[in-house]
Amino acid sequence: MTALDSHANPELAVFIRRLPKAELHVHIEGTLEPELIFKFARRNQITLAYESVEDLRNAYAFTNLQSFLDIYYAGMAVLQTQQDYREMTWAYLQRAHADGVVHAEIMVDGQAHTHRDIPLSTVFAGMAEAMHQARDELGLSSYLILSFLRDFPEDDALDTLEEALALRVQYQDLWVGVGLSSAELGNPPEKFTRLYDYARSLGFRCVAHAGEEGPAEYIRGALDDLKVERIDHGVACEHDPTLLERIIREQIPLTMCPLSNLRLGVVDNLSQHNAAKLLRQGACVTINSDDPSYFGGYIVDNYLAAAQALQLSKAELVEIAKNSLSGSFLSLHARQALLERHPFPVI
Ligand code: HPA
Ligand code: ZN
Repeated sequence: MTALDSHANPELAVFIRRLPKAELHVHIEGTLEPELIFKFARRNQITLAYESVEDLRNAYAFTNLQSFLDIYYAGMAVLQTQQDYREMTWAYLQRAHADGVVHAEIMVDGQAHTHRDIPLSTVFAGMAEAMHQARDELGLSSYLILSFLRDFPEDDALDTLEEALALRVQYQDLWVGVGLSSAELGNPPEKFTRLYDYARSLGFRCVAHAGEEGPAEYIRGALDDLKVERIDHGVACEHDPTLLERIIREQIPLTMCPLSNLRLGVVDNLSQHNAAKLLRQGACVTINSDDPSYFGGYIVDNYLAAAQALQLSKAELVEIAKNSLSGSFLSLHARQALLERHPFPVI
């Protein structure tokens, strides 16, 4: 099931596009389309290992998370200037707006830039320009989540957070939270307890990837040790009934990404994805795009692929979209204002 299937059911695609949605799980570097990679490489005089856009796209054949991460980090090496970060972010926000996204909480892998000697001030400045433009011109609100690379030591993340804190006041309207991404297996949440204790003490909202390739135990660790408010992915929660019962009872949002899970082999087939089963058991399931330029679809493509593979009803699609707004970090007031402008259809 791919993005192309929107042609198979155009009426459903329109229905999904019109639903007011929050995107809660997207990595800005994963929105970098091959065309922009080539454009930025040319502008910054960087030689790519690929001859053409088509060549690069053909390399997007992943077997697991690490095989994706290798190409993802190589692709973002073309990002050098504030203008690059602005153009990448603006391209995503326009695309998200076209998909009916009314609010986006966007992760950025700070260390993937600072490790290449790009200061966070450049990254934040470029992203913020685009995010403010989207607010002013598209009515699309967005927040920034600084995500840390779990395959690096905790001290490296703490140094990065310290560097970013110098920007906190300047970007207080955007930067609301911290996250944890990259290679999951062998990098359990408890490795980052000090980081999260510190971030929480500073008032940041906390999320973490858990249970994508890693076990249910990592989800438990993210909740107990890192005290996160949302779980990014969370596919593995169904293997631990006690954990699942807690996720349902506490309504901990799961930011699920069906096309990502398909492309990285987390599931062999979308019909095996547990998003619908978890939703029907009462979990706060949301649907998101993760790294849309690499996984073959933006948010509507993900909703549609899940709807078709899992026979989600329109009422269930509305429920998922509602979960995305209630699971966001928007204030109740801001959420109510959004809903007045973009009411949900009555099914
Ligand atoms: N998983 C973990 N880290 C990531 C991902 C993902 O799907 N995308 C970008 N960084
Ligand atoms: Zn992710």
